[in-house]
Amino acid sequence: MDNAPSDPRAGLAPERALVPRHVAIVMDGNGRWARKRFMPRVYGHKVGVDALVRIVQSCADRGIEHLSVFAFSSENWKRPSDEVSGLMSLVLVAVSKYLAKLAGDGVRIRIVGDRSIVSDKLRAAWQEAEEATAHNTRITLSVAFNYGGRWDVVQACRKIVEAGTPADQIDEALLASHMAMSYAPDPDLFIRTGGEIRISNFMLWQTAYSELYFTHCLWPDFGNTELDAALAAYARRDRRFGEVRDSEPMLAAALPADS
Ligand code: IPE
Ligand code: IPE
Ligand code: MG
Repeated sequence: MDNAPSDPRAGLAPERALVPRHVAIVMDGNGRWARKRFMPRVYGHKVGVDALVRIVQSCADRGIEHLSVFAFSSENWKRPSDEVSGLMSLVLVAVSKYLAKLAGDGVRIRIVGDRSIVSDKLRAAWQEAEEATAHNTRITLSVAFNYGGRWDVVQACRKIVEAGTPADQIDEALLASHMAMSYAPDPDLFIRTGGEIRISNFMLWQTAYSELYFTHCLWPDFGNTELDAALAAYARRDRRFGEVRDSEPMLAAALPADS
């Protein structure tokens, strides 16, 4: 096709390409977004789902292959019960509202996290979402729900032990292959909205060499302008993976100048 856009990664090793293959997002700030509008926190989560559906499309349009989002952490059970039950109901509403659209748009949905302690209804909705989109290849959306980076390492270790693997055969590659998102490359770009500068137990193993990007933007307000700002910051980063590179470290690119 003559008019097809040229591949932005052509000629580059995948981890050095200007467009990330895998973007991970901690979608934080829904509660504050709602409180600013004198609305219940669950309303912020509802508008946050709409923002996610838009961002999946935007990521696919920009050639990103994997988008992984933190939707509910292992620690979020500590929230008030009405917020937790509101979030569970919201997943069911979101699946019925958006599944057909996402499936039609070529999005593959995968759910990662501990499913053992969620309701049968929720498990069934996730299974439906995964099955309805299993053949899609445009972009993979991994939704981390009842997920924690520490849980992920523990469940991987358990599988390895259960398989009777001798200790001297355990290496990084084997552990990585048992992690919940082993089907995806490690995230190139890790974004957290909402202004907090922390990981909060998302993808601890896989983010060892991710580029980190934090923004004050609250998740429901995160749109194409904010996504493109994050991608532009990523494109300016000098990923070194512990090597000495030809270019001198460009500290100014990663840190704001002291003022
Ligand atoms: C993130 O938004 C979504 C979930 C944790 C489910 P928050 O609910 O944490 O929103 P803030 O951080 O309180 O504003
Ligand atoms: C992280 O946000 C979890 C999700 C976005 C799902 P939190 O709001 O739970 O994180 P903390 O409590 O500020 O660290
Ligand atoms: Mg929060």
